[in-house]
Amino acid sequence: MPKKTTKRSTATQRKEPDPIIATRQQPPAEERYADQITFLRAIDSSPKPAGWLLSPERVVDFICGTHGESLRAPASVSLPDGLPKSMAIEAKFVGPRALVERCIVTLAGERGLLLVGQPGTAKSMLGELLTTAISGSSALTVQGTAGASEDHFRYGWNYAMLLDKGPRPEALVASPIMTGMKTGKLVRIEEITRCLPEVQDALISILSERRLMIPELEGEGGSVFAAPGFNLIATANLRDRGVSEMSAALKRRFNFETVHPIAEAAQEVELVRSRAKAMLTESGTHEEIDAKLLDILVTTFRDLREGRTEEGWSIERPAAVMSTAEAVTVAAAITRQGVYFSSRKDPVSLLPGYLLGVVLKDNQEDRDRLLAYWDGPVRRRSESNALWKRMYQLRENLEEVDQDF
Ligand SMILES: Nc1ncnc2c1ncn2[C@@H]1O[C@H](COP(=O)(O)OP(=O)(O)OP(=O)(O)O)[C@@H](O)[C@H]1O
Ligand SMILES: [Mg+2]
Repeated sequence: MPKKTTKRSTATQRKEPDPIIATRQQPPAEERYADQITFLRAIDSSPKPAGWLLSPERVVDFICGTHGESLRAPASVSLPDGLPKSMAIEAKFVGPRALVERCIVTLAGERGLLLVGQPGTAKSMLGELLTTAISGSSALTVQGTAGASEDHFRYGWNYAMLLDKGPRPEALVASPIMTGMKTGKLVRIEEITRCLPEVQDALISILSERRLMIPELEGEGGSVFAAPGFNLIATANLRDRGVSEMSAALKRRFNFETVHPIAEAAQEVELVRSRAKAMLTESGTHEEIDAKLLDILVTTFRDLREGRTEEGWSIERPAAVMSTAEAVTVAAAITRQGVYFSSRKDPVSLLPGYLLGVVLKDNQEDRDRLLAYWDGPVRRRSESNALWKRMYQLRENLEEVDQDF
């Protein structure tokens, strides 16, 4: 029988949890999956692009998992103390393996990678996992905002030192991109399209020449050349200012990959269950997610997201994004409410209230769309299914009421 290889079991065999990590709300991927990364690096004998810490094949294993099969360390490999000889890696990103392979191939080439898609489709998560597997760290990240300037992409100055001693390398404050170029690591740019197009264009020469000029410094210090391993992973959300506003010159320097919502309902249910459970565990609550709640929650999210139910009934989609990420948050919140308020034992009864919280973000008409969903698919299903009947009975929770306190 293969040795048990979950993170929990290996962590407890190895050492007491690091108090710094244990007190963090959300440890980065490189800490969360440290055992897996160490194991994969130790057994990796496939060819790697220059500057990469893992081969493309092992990067896919890390992100898409090994489908229950254990990877076995050859007898000749000596593993660090406490690491098991074989390990089954769980899937972290649920999506087409071919997409992940294309992302990896892009990163080994001359262009940057741009992940585009609806909010909450795991674009940032995929970027974090790729940088962790390939460069060993996901920390080199620039957050794109409307207020970002070219300095965020290039470099800034320590002004006290600059005024005191003039421009010199020690006075330079490197951006994550400059650091990634020097050290040969991947750098993430989150929400690139939230930056002004003229600011984004600072990336053109970085991507094409792989060199960053520092005109204030003379001689050798005046340029930073990218070491092997450096590349960019940018994400862009289709709901924000669109990629259509990116300059054509910059678009040509990125390969675009669209990340779609999870195709299979069963996979989405399983993901919502496991991610919500993990969120609760990280916040100190050890509670399972109710199976009926999961079923009805994911079905409702998928119906409203797609504008069409599994039965083929058309519905009007709300303007709000019904993402998997939102579904995870709702599943965790409802379960948490059941833990903290013991009188609320029926998790399904809490769903309409949370759904309103997701739907009523910026468009009041979305309430009517939700009510129409109740009067259509929910009512029809309630005729033959007790759970949907219960949902239908909760319709009044969606109506606007004048509250008297
Ligand atoms: N296909 C998927 N595989 C794994 N997790 C997913 C998937 N889709 C959504 N999730 C869940 O959604 C969470 C949020 O994803 P993430 O923040 O990476 O989305 P995003 O696409 O970057 O969203 P935004 O556009 O709002 O920044 C993930 O941590 C994960 O729990
Ligand atoms: Mg994101």
